[in-house]
Amino acid sequence: MTLSLSLTDVSPLQFAVTRNPNPRSDADREEILANPGFGQYFTDHMVQIHWSERGGWHRAAVEPYGKIALDPAAAALHYGQEIFEGLKAYRHADGSVWTFRPDKNAERFQRSARRLALPELPTGLFIESLKQLVAIDGAWVPAADETCLYLRPFMFAAEAFLGVRAAKKVYYFVIASPAGAYFKGGVKPVKIWLSTEYGRAGFGGTGAAKTGGNYAASLLPQQEAYAEGCDQVLFLDSVENTYLEELGGMNIVLVTKDGTLITPDSPSILEGVTRDSLLELAEARGHTVERRQISIDEWRDRAASGDIVEAFACGTAAVVTPIAQLKSRGFSIGDPDAPAGALTMSLRKELTDIQYGRVEDRFGWLTRLDA
Ligand code: COI
Repeated sequence: MTLSLSLTDVSPLQFAVTRNPNPRSDADREEILANPGFGQYFTDHMVQIHWSERGGWHRAAVEPYGKIALDPAAAALHYGQEIFEGLKAYRHADGSVWTFRPDKNAERFQRSARRLALPELPTGLFIESLKQLVAIDGAWVPAADETCLYLRPFMFAAEAFLGVRAAKKVYYFVIASPAGAYFKGGVKPVKIWLSTEYGRAGFGGTGAAKTGGNYAASLLPQQEAYAEGCDQVLFLDSVENTYLEELGGMNIVLVTKDGTLITPDSPSILEGVTRDSLLELAEARGHTVERRQISIDEWRDRAASGDIVEAFACGTAAVVTPIAQLKSRGFSIGDPDAPAGALTMSLRKELTDIQYGRVEDRFGWLTRLDA
């Protein structure tokens, strides 16, 4: 089967569709959807598009989910020339399937591509690739509360060449994984560990790009966090080792007792779509939002004086996670048994109500994927 598509910002690309001859049975799929966890199961198909320096984007295909044959010299395996995105498909009460601000993810994917010397995938083709996958794997979008189909677009250097330069052959894929809560305990306040020995991203580095290397750099300090009984690791800036940056895979926001939201402004953190959306919702309610440097001392002092009263982590995967306590060598902020903050939870609710179609989409943030 071949589907012909007309895209606004690229010349028409045809997706060749090959159905999986051995999809999961309805019963197996329903069993997975009843308890999907996060990132453990994958749908029956995947999207693949190739790029070459001479041919541009070509060979768009929807294929059975399966292993990727790569030359062992493929540059991504050696030099980490790789980027990815994460967004979700939500099933609304009428059965329709929607995603949230995919243009923002497409633009961030383009910025990540520029930083990693990869080709920029046009926004129209990015969104079309999501629609193609949902068209064939729509039955994998769960309907229960707080569940979704997590979509993972990614791109990597596929050229077999060991010289260090930007690859001339690149593969783009989209895979999808049904998802429930990101953290095992669901939405409950977490403890985070402040890494003082390791940084996540350096000045002028790849911190603002969604590239595997940033996440690889977080894994050892993340293990340290687990060993300290914490769920996530928080990094400081790597120039002065003073200012909050972000968590291993999420942005951070602090809330003062007068309802001001403060969040780090730094060239080396990821521009979170979830964070931006929460801050927009807060501003629309009349809250002040400050995007600026926040030193760890400011958080410690203002929390001790009762001036900073809530903190939360946010990202696509976990949406909003209240932070009960920050632990570090020699000091802590907050109380491990602190309940979730009221503003934290009400912003979370407003955002998820929009995403799941429970309230009007008054900002025009949703894009339908199954039509
Ligand atoms: C997100 O919350 O979107 C993240 O980046 C975490 C993801 C890498 C699992």
